Amino acid sequence: MNFKDYIRVIPDFPQPGIRFKDITTLLKDAEAYRKAVETIADKVRHLNVDLIAGPEARGFVVGAPLALMLGVGFVPIRKSGKLPGETVETSYDLEYGSDKLAIHKDAIKPGQRVLVADDLLATGGTIATTVKLVRMLGGEVAGAAFLIELGYLNGREKLEGLDVYSLMTY
Ligand code: PRP
Repeated sequence: MNFKDYIRVIPDFPQPGIRFKDITTLLKDAEAYRKAVETIADKVRHLNVDLIAGPEARGFVVGAPLALMLGVGFVPIRKSGKLPGETVETSYDLEYGSDKLAIHKDAIKPGQRVLVADDLLATGGTIATTVKLVRMLGGEVAGAAFLIELGYLNGREKLEGLDVYSLMTY
């Protein structure tokens, strides 16, 4: 299956000059969505992770079905102020300003192997922050998986030393 056929490219969103990769056209196709997640699952199964961690919001639509397919649990990484229990948080830079991501303190036990997953690897800021939160809890990040990698933004450089798998690269 050519997964790129299911990605809709929208020019000039959210800003002029950006060609936005819209995954909703893949998600609404039952077979394409299942095959996409299955293909990722087959690539990362050998990492034998205990958990998948994914950042809101689009990281949930990749990370949660991947967790089910691998038979492991899912840990949501959320914007500050959204998780109800005790959290650890860390801030990350955005194009304009900064934001904070949070994880429940008891989400990961020290030594547990974690795969971080998201829909998109762009600059790598979001996933690097996710990796940092997992490590703050003593989790061992075993790898990272994405539907799409924007290779020209070099986000992979922020994941040095990790096993990184992307289903599609632009
Ligand atoms: C998008 C995307 C990734 C992140 C990738 O999320 O889902 O999480 O950007 O970019 P980066 O590699 O440059 O950090 P966004 O912040 O738009 O949030 P959303 O998933 O809630 O739409």
